[in-house]
Amino acid sequence: MNNFQKQISQGIPDELPQPKLFDPKINHAPKRKDILSTAEKKLAIRNALRYFDKKHHPILAKEFAQELQEYGRIYMYRFRPDYEMYARPINEYPGVSNQAKAIMHMIQNNLSDAVAQHPHELITYGGNGAVFQNWGQYLLAMQYLSQMNEDQTMVVYSGHALGLFPSHKNAPRVVVTNGMMIPNYSKQDDWEKYNALGVTQYGQMTAGSYMYIGPQGIVHGTTITVLNAGRKISKKGEGLAGKLFITSGLGGMSGAQPKAGNIAGCITICAEINPKVVHTRYSQKWIDEVYENLDLLVERVKKAQINKEVLSIAYQGNIVDLWEKFDEENIYIDLGSDQTSLHNPWAGGYYPAGYSLEESNTMMAKQPDLFKEKVRESLRRQADAINKHTAKGTYFFDYGNAFLLEASRAGADVFLDSPTFQNRKNPPTSRGAVGQREFAYASYVEDIMGPMCFDYGFGPFRWVCTSAKPEDLAKTDNIAMQVLEELKKESPKEIQQQMDDNIQWIKGAQENNLVVGSQARILYADAEGRIKIAEAFNQALKNSEITAPIVLGRDHHDVSGTDSPYRETSNIYDGSQFTADMAIQNVIGDSFRGATWVSIHNGGGVGWGEVINGGFGMVLDGSNDAERRLRSMLFWDVNNGLSRRSWARNDGAMFAIKREMEKTPGLKVTFPNIADDDLLKSYF
Ligand SMILES: NC(=O)c1ccc[n+]([C@@H]2O[C@H](COP(=O)([O-])OP(=O)(O)OC[C@H]3O[C@@H](n4cnc5c(N)ncnc54)[C@H](O)[C@@H]3O)[C@@H](O)[C@H]2O)c1
Repeated sequence: MNNFQKQISQGIPDELPQPKLFDPKINHAPKRKDILSTAEKKLAIRNALRYFDKKHHPILAKEFAQELQEYGRIYMYRFRPDYEMYARPINEYPGVSNQAKAIMHMIQNNLSDAVAQHPHELITYGGNGAVFQNWGQYLLAMQYLSQMNEDQTMVVYSGHALGLFPSHKNAPRVVVTNGMMIPNYSKQDDWEKYNALGVTQYGQMTAGSYMYIGPQGIVHGTTITVLNAGRKISKKGEGLAGKLFITSGLGGMSGAQPKAGNIAGCITICAEINPKVVHTRYSQKWIDEVYENLDLLVERVKKAQINKEVLSIAYQGNIVDLWEKFDEENIYIDLGSDQTSLHNPWAGGYYPAGYSLEESNTMMAKQPDLFKEKVRESLRRQADAINKHTAKGTYFFDYGNAFLLEASRAGADVFLDSPTFQNRKNPPTSRGAVGQREFAYASYVEDIMGPMCFDYGFGPFRWVCTSAKPEDLAKTDNIAMQVLEELKKESPKEIQQQMDDNIQWIKGAQENNLVVGSQARILYADAEGRIKIAEAFNQALKNSEITAPIVLGRDHHDVSGTDSPYRETSNIYDGSQFTADMAIQNVIGDSFRGATWVSIHNGGGVGWGEVINGGFGMVLDGSNDAERRLRSMLFWDVNNGLSRRSWARNDGAMFAIKREMEKTPGLKVTFPNIADDDLLKSYF
């Protein structure tokens, strides 16, 4: 065993490692709110000490109290390993189970400095998307994985490995739950409190399910969204050339917007308040130009519109100022959105207009109530400016970041029934939302991803080559492209566009050079596409064309994995968008159909309490077992959602599930009868 393997196998060390210095070069999580009472702070320390031998308690108790005071959380920094954190080739991990080793590969990728947003606080993305709550949990989980055999299952409660439990070969090796709360304790401050106590965490989507693959996933998804948004507003199929897209955020996910805008072929202006974040994206060449001065920006954009340039610009400043200035200057905006982190509005996700980043950060920690008021005020201003643009014809969509939700909570003018919209020449019409006042604007899922992708079973399928070799990834790209081209020949017209977009993507995948961290690829495919691609991979492993296992997975942001009334299921209009049966059924169904690990989370993407979302990982090793598992599980993992979407009377889903039933004799899905609207007119 080498030193790395010894350290993994050892788990929590017997002797205390040296304390770690706080590294100012690393991007650290913001100081969290001081929310615990004195008694609760003692409880948090007692909870943290559970991981360590009593002889270390005097030193650690003091250290953990300091961490809690200074950072608002106990991260156990001293236990952060000295070895480099990255997705190693699978055979470098100690252990007896290849499935467990593949999971270690994925965990280390999620925590690597190159991939994670706040690597030392175990946060992968989204400001608070955690893999584990602290380094003690990481060490323990990795040790269990190195010990487990394929008749055991590791159970993980919000980062805490409860233990290894006897199970069986076909069971998942790991079952993860993140942030599962008794529903009444699922408010944003409950996360602050129970996370500070060390008993729960916000797993985001792919962070807490070990399935994050860096920015590639989001570039692909954002490109598909911008392309389809362009098709939506394109009257004569003229495309996006010369059209202007205004949005905000250059962070973990939002940073994909300018790159996607360039791939889709429009002019993108993205406001970002944090100069460090602007610099990162600029140095990555994901943005072409940076402006701090709005007058100069106005001149530049006019020129770009005239010349129909494909151009991405970062406006280093507040998005509210950008919307307002462009209204004053009468700049026509074709597409508009927002990707500030409004799933996390009070702790750094949204910066209010009129204040610098530093002023806001100080206010957030010292005067949290005033900060909240300023955020609300800013949201009201932002909505007013957006409304002026949409009155002139801008197509604005909510980008699943809870913009409309938080703006409405702040009292902004965003409801469909408000005079602002109803007095327009062409007022927006109801999409049929229930359970809330309807928003004047649709979310990107309501208008774009739902009806064009999810309802046809198309979603973010991904894979990772655990050999860590780029040549293996290139082989899989090739295999996937051939499969899609073959399938396209038989595809009905309804899904031809999807097939084309993804064949195009996979052809350009190598050139786009988007691999950061593990050797991973993403594309959108339906159940048939996912199964056929996975079968071909398994065959390549069987023939030894590829020599190390492949991990299959997906984003939670998919057809079946997520119940989220303001995002993934926002184009469900039968009232069931406020239920979470689909996500729960999905993860249960995946677990007994062959997933290698499953996870179910509270809050991914749009915020704690607003969504239930789940995912899976599946290890392919070229065996017959893997082939049986992939067929059974991938089939369910898509068709569960299609059946539900069809029951909700969504046209695309009714079409897609009917097609699936014709091909699959064992599938019998309950189909809706559609009531005649005229019949209902005379009632109530
Ligand atoms: N990209 C997608 O496909 C997608 C899909 C669904 C949801 N989302 C949501 O988008 C949001 C953003 O995700 P992220 O990972 O990029 O988060 P992030 O926190 O890394 O980035 C958000 C950025 O917005 C900036 N910002 C905040 N307020 C601002 C303001 N008023 N003006 C200008 N800049 C401001 C912040 O400085 C930060 O860099 C999240 O809520 C996420 O759930 C993204």
